[in-house]
Amino acid sequence: MKVLGIESSCDETAVAVYDAERGLLGHALHSQIKLHAEYGGVVPELASRDHVRYLLPLAFQALAQAGVDKRELGGIAYTAGPGLIGALMVGAAAGRALAMTLDVPAVAVHHMEGHLLAPMLEQPAPEFPFIALLVSGGHTLLAEVRGVGQYRILGESLDDAAGEAFDKTAKMLGLGYPGGPVLAKLAEQGHRGQYQFPRPMTDRPGLEFSFSGLKTFTLTSYQQALQQGGDEQQIRADIARAFEEAVVDTLMIKCRRALQQTGINRLVVAGGVGANKHLRQKLREMTDKLGGEVFYPRIEFCTDNAAMIAYVGCLRLMAGETEPLAINVRARWPMSELDSISSRT
Ligand code: KG4
Ligand code: ZN
Repeated sequence: MKVLGIESSCDETAVAVYDAERGLLGHALHSQIKLHAEYGGVVPELASRDHVRYLLPLAFQALAQAGVDKRELGGIAYTAGPGLIGALMVGAAAGRALAMTLDVPAVAVHHMEGHLLAPMLEQPAPEFPFIALLVSGGHTLLAEVRGVGQYRILGESLDDAAGEAFDKTAKMLGLGYPGGPVLAKLAEQGHRGQYQFPRPMTDRPGLEFSFSGLKTFTLTSYQQALQQGGDEQQIRADIARAFEEAVVDTLMIKCRRALQQTGINRLVVAGGVGANKHLRQKLREMTDKLGGEVFYPRIEFCTDNAAMIAYVGCLRLMAGETEPLAINVRARWPMSELDSISSRT
């Protein structure tokens, strides 16, 4: 079965073609970073309009790259949530209408399930069960994954998501949007040990996260350092480094704890923050020490993309899931509401 996947939940428009037998055949993406940069964050209405502009050209591009005619498609998958309602509506309306005209089933995909299973697009793919660390701009969670749709949430962020903390901290330091990659780049010029940042919630049991205190700590440290004087660019780089290390350390400690508590030795990392080099390195060292393994999607599939949506859509369509003709999207959609499917490709 060949499935066209559509992603439009936030600030990336993407379309991909996945084949149950041959794997990923094509994928195309347009990022809205430049569009939103001057506002310092995503402007929902602009995002929706841009999705309208790019979605169909990207669909033609992905099909051409895949060498697939639209009449060969066996189904259409689109992100139905969580995300920005207007943005989701664009992908869902296009996907649903396309499925209707081609007379094939459509399926609504959960964006976070897409992220969580994105490492399955790589070779070797992780086997079930595994522990998943999902770190994106909107979510931070640890889950025990026993199969497609079998997700036991072990811990979540009580406040800001890890990516959100990166973005807000970057803004405080006067860096651009999106903050994560810019802050990580600046951190490379920072000296280690100039600042000692806390590792929130690691001194007590549990797998919950909290990053909003780190943000405040960063602001106070930055203001104090500026008052004391010195090279401003170096201060910013040192603080960026201390902040990044604190987040990375905290995530590593909680992942280690989740692996030890469940006795599972496979860790899967997904979501935009999973692109962070230091995080990848630190988690690899940790799992090596435990005699386990860590799996990542390739960098371009850490952040939003349609390959993961086409893949999950294909699994769910093959398991018989379909959507009615109504276009339903959800800004919020708890992962616990997802159905488990037994077949796996
Ligand atoms: O998964 P994603 O593309 O979108 C959501 O579903 O949220 O994640 C985007 C988030 C942003 O907060 C961005 O700043 C962060 O991932 N991010 C990074 C890096 N690359 C992207 N954070 C830290 N280091 C990076 N290299
Ligand atoms: Zn995402």
